[in-house]
Amino acid sequence: MNIPLLDLRAQYTSIKADVDAAIAEVMQSQHFILGPKVEQCEKTIAAYSACSHAVGVSSGSDALLACLMAENIGPGDEVITTPYTFFATVGAIARVGATPVFVDIDPETYNIDAPQISSKITNRTRAIIPVHLYGQMADMETVMEVADAYGLVVIEDAAQAIGAEHKGRRAGSVGHYGCFSFFPSKNLGAAGDGGMVVTNDADRAERLRRIRAHGSKPKYYHKLIGGNFRLDALQAAVVSAKLPHLDDWTAARQRNARKYDALFAAVGLPISLPAVVVERHIFNQYVIRVSERDQLQAFLKQKGVGTEVYYPVPLHRQECFAYLGHAAGAFPESEQAAEQTLALPVYPELTDSQARYVVDCVCEFFEQTATSGSGFQRAWVERIS
Ligand SMILES: Cc1ncc(COP(=O)(O)O)c(C=O)c1O
Repeated sequence: MNIPLLDLRAQYTSIKADVDAAIAEVMQSQHFILGPKVEQCEKTIAAYSACSHAVGVSSGSDALLACLMAENIGPGDEVITTPYTFFATVGAIARVGATPVFVDIDPETYNIDAPQISSKITNRTRAIIPVHLYGQMADMETVMEVADAYGLVVIEDAAQAIGAEHKGRRAGSVGHYGCFSFFPSKNLGAAGDGGMVVTNDADRAERLRRIRAHGSKPKYYHKLIGGNFRLDALQAAVVSAKLPHLDDWTAARQRNARKYDALFAAVGLPISLPAVVVERHIFNQYVIRVSERDQLQAFLKQKGVGTEVYYPVPLHRQECFAYLGHAAGAFPESEQAAEQTLALPVYPELTDSQARYVVDCVCEFFEQTATSGSGFQRAWVERIS
């Protein structure tokens, strides 16, 4: 069997008519940058995220950058975030000339260990960027308490978490800004790069609209310095065509996650399963933790199962951030997660028999690993199938 980590062709096949029609409409209009398709997409994403404003931008990375620019965050300022995230979170902080200040993760959820944030606040701290990793929201209650107490801006990196929810609040709607990515492999992916910022603050939305167009308003008059962070109409049209299906896709991902949970729990392998501590985890990734991670990944590859390591090197150990001076061991939970996590295929179209095959292959790996001593019972897999 060949099971990729993500099968975008299967998704496209199921919605081909809608996507093709949306693209044809843009081609017919020849209106490619911003315009009505982008505005329509902004309206629906704002509503989906329980926010009053949305600003389409060129990527999730530029969404983060534009928010930092909108807050005039720059040299001499500190921004708190986690070292266990995609590069873009920390890259954006460095790109505006501010200093990334790291707080380690909670080892259960892989999200920022929010109770530790206040110990990292100085008189230079301007903002916090919590990341909703793998599709599960960070502890926003604690983040907002700390932010309110110290007057800090909160930029939610919700690139992996559109539609995630906790205590009735949607990802992106809790902080001052929420940033989404429409990178094609995301739960709601475009046909290229794209992103969006949501906010409940009209002034912030207006600043972002200027910043995404070189800071100009009216055209050719610049009170601000921005960049070219505009969303194009083709990407907006594809995202709008896909959005009506997102809740069904999320439900399918959640079903697949539960299926894996049940199969793995029944065989009792020496692996940790994802901890769900929020009301709506959207499973952008289904990530297990295993000490023989690299060997298991190589084994699964041989068996035709696609996996991915998100992320093998925490940001404080990246060469480009050596100037921050963090030695190995500085953020032990992030470092251990980087050695042990492995994402398995959880895309909506994954069938039950494919999920069973993945679990079967993981079982086979442990059967062959003399050191595991797991004592699991392979027959159980068949019993609950
Ligand atoms: C956590 C996180 N932040 C930011 C980004 C950046 O998004 P994009 O790839 O759209 O620039 C991504 C996507 O890869 C991400 O996963």
